[in-house]
Amino acid sequence: MAAGLRAARRRVIGAAGGVVLARGLAGALPALPLAVAGGAARAQDDKPFSPFITTPNNTVIRMLSIAAVGKDDHVIDLGSGDGRIPITAALKFGASGFGVDLDAMLVELSNRNAAEAGVAARVRFERGDVFAADVRKATVVTLYMLPPIVQGLRPVLLRQLRPGSRIVSHDFPFDGWQADASETFFAQEKNNGRGGDSTVFLYVVPAEVHGRWALSLPGTAVEGLPAAPAELRLVQFNQFLEAELDLARQVLPVRDGRVAGDRIRFNTVLPARAGGPPAVPWQFEGRIEGDTMSGSARSDRGAEVRWQARRTARR
Ligand SMILES: C[S@@+](CC[C@H](N)C(=O)[O-])C[C@H]1O[C@@H](n2cnc3c(N)ncnc32)[C@H](O)[C@@H]1O
Repeated sequence: MAAGLRAARRRVIGAAGGVVLARGLAGALPALPLAVAGGAARAQDDKPFSPFITTPNNTVIRMLSIAAVGKDDHVIDLGSGDGRIPITAALKFGASGFGVDLDAMLVELSNRNAAEAGVAARVRFERGDVFAADVRKATVVTLYMLPPIVQGLRPVLLRQLRPGSRIVSHDFPFDGWQADASETFFAQEKNNGRGGDSTVFLYVVPAEVHGRWALSLPGTAVEGLPAAPAELRLVQFNQFLEAELDLARQVLPVRDGRVAGDRIRFNTVLPARAGGPPAVPWQFEGRIEGDTMSGSARSDRGAEVRWQARRTARR
C-alpha cells in the first residue's frame, strides 16, 4: 500500500475516534439511572453489563423506522429488557424478532409479552450474554447499552453480520464509526417520565474491500479510458474509501469512494493526452461479492463501460 494512503488511514482513524469519544463516553454515562432487575443479573454473572432501562415507545418506533424495518427483516435486540423492540418490530413492522438478555426474569417477561401481543410465533427471547450471541440471521440489530458494551460488540457484529445489515443504537454511538444517519428528538418517557432527548444512530454494515484489486476494463479504449490492466488500491475506513488507481502506469487519485452494504462507488478523472480529449471525469459503481466486484463506469460525456475487479491482496 502506498505511503500516502497509509498516512491518510492514520489521519482519518485519529480524527473520527477523537470526536466520538468526546461526546459519547464523557457526556452520556450519568444519563442512565440504575434499575432493579439488571442489578440481580450483574451480581450473578460478573460480565460486562448495562442496567435495565427501557427505550421509550416513540424511540422504539424511530429506531425501527430509521432502519426501514419491513416484513423480510429479522430484528435482534441485544440486551432485550422487557422485549419491546422485537415485539414492536413484529407487531407494527411485520418483521420477525429475537432478543437476548442476561436477566432470566426479563427473558420470561419478554416471552410472556410476546404471547400477549400475539407475536410469539415470530418473536422469541433467550437468556444469554450479548457477547456470545449468534446474530448471523439478523438483518437488523438494535442496542441500548452503555458505551463499553456498544464498543465491545462492534467487532462481534462486524464479524457476523452480512453487508447491508443495519445496526441501530439508542443514545450511544460507536466510537470511530460515523453513523450513516442519526436523529435526535424528544421522548416524554425518558428520565422517569420527566422527558428528555433520545438520539438514534444508524449504521449500515459495509462489505470489506480493503486491499489491492486487479481491475479489468473493456478491450478497446473508450473516451480516454485506455484498454490497459489497472490496479485499484483501496484503504477502507468503515464506509469510506481512500483510493488510487494505477492505470497504464499513471497513478490517478480516486475521489468520493464509498461502500454502502455490498455496493461500491468512486470517481476518478482520466488525464488529457496530447491530441486527445481534455480530462474526462468517470464515475464507477458496482457490487461487491467477497474478493470480486463488478459494475459499470460512466463518463461525463455519456460513455458507459462494464468493469470487473479481483482482489489480489488484502493489505
Ligand atoms: C438499557 S436496557 C435495554 C433494554 C431494551 N433493549 C430496551 O431498549 O428497552 C439493557 C439490557 O441489557 C441487559 N444486559 C446488560 N448486560 C448484558 C449482557 N452482557 N448480556 C446480555 N444482556 C445484558 C440488561 O439486563 C438490560 O435488560
